[in-house]
Amino acid sequence: MYTTIILLANVRIFEGTKKSKQSQFMYNLKIISSTVRPGRKGPMIAAWIAEKAAQTGKFEVEILDLGAINLPMMNEANPPIRKNYEHEHTRNWSAKIEAADVFIFVTAEYDFNYPAPLRNAIEYLYSEWNYKAAGIVSYGGISAGTRAANSLKADLATMSMVPLVHGVNFPMFTQFITEEDEFVPNEISHKSAETMLIDLIRWTKGLKVIKENK
Ligand SMILES: Cc1cc2nc3c(=O)[nH]c(=O)nc-3n(C[C@H](O)[C@H](O)[C@H](O)COP(=O)(O)O)c2cc1C
Repeated sequence: MYTTIILLANVRIFEGTKKSKQSQFMYNLKIISSTVRPGRKGPMIAAWIAEKAAQTGKFEVEILDLGAINLPMMNEANPPIRKNYEHEHTRNWSAKIEAADVFIFVTAEYDFNYPAPLRNAIEYLYSEWNYKAAGIVSYGGISAGTRAANSLKADLATMSMVPLVHGVNFPMFTQFITEEDEFVPNEISHKSAETMLIDLIRWTKGLKVIKENK
């Protein structure tokens, strides 16, 4: 099994009878960090947006770090649309994505595109992704990972996800990493994240209706 980080947005949900009532109104948000190389910065940025999402009180948040999950290159015999998975790693990945109401993809830019491990992780599944909203947080050099974000949007739409117009893009992102190795973005980034999260809540609410009305 792989390591995950779970953040619960509102501590009041741990208090007695309030728990089940409160959690009914929380969406299951999976934050997927795209990179797998040793020393990757993705999880640091994922942790920042996870904290922002948790602060809204609308999400139960889990970070899925592809570097920790360590999926092999897609090795299922059957097309994912059949959901007839042979391997435990696929069944585990399927269960995680099925449980999600909504996603945030935290993507680096590798060679003007999003990293191959993310493409591989998407490719493993099909219906688990369908009719769910997706925010994108990108980071890179001068382009802020926007080329990666644009490629990713096209592929998410192919899986019947709804990639949002509003996103967060970090140009020269290492400027936000302190000497203590903390990720400390500026006010513009906070505002972008807040705009994206408001939009994410709205789309998630709407898409749940669409998903359930077949
Ligand atoms: C294989 C590779 C390709 C890269 N290509 C780009 C690129 O096209 N654009 C960019 O802005 N940065 C590029 N970079 C720099 C990354 O933005 C930077 O290394 C970042 O830390 C990668 O994310 P990670 O630390 O989560 O792996 C590249 C880095 C690697 C390792």
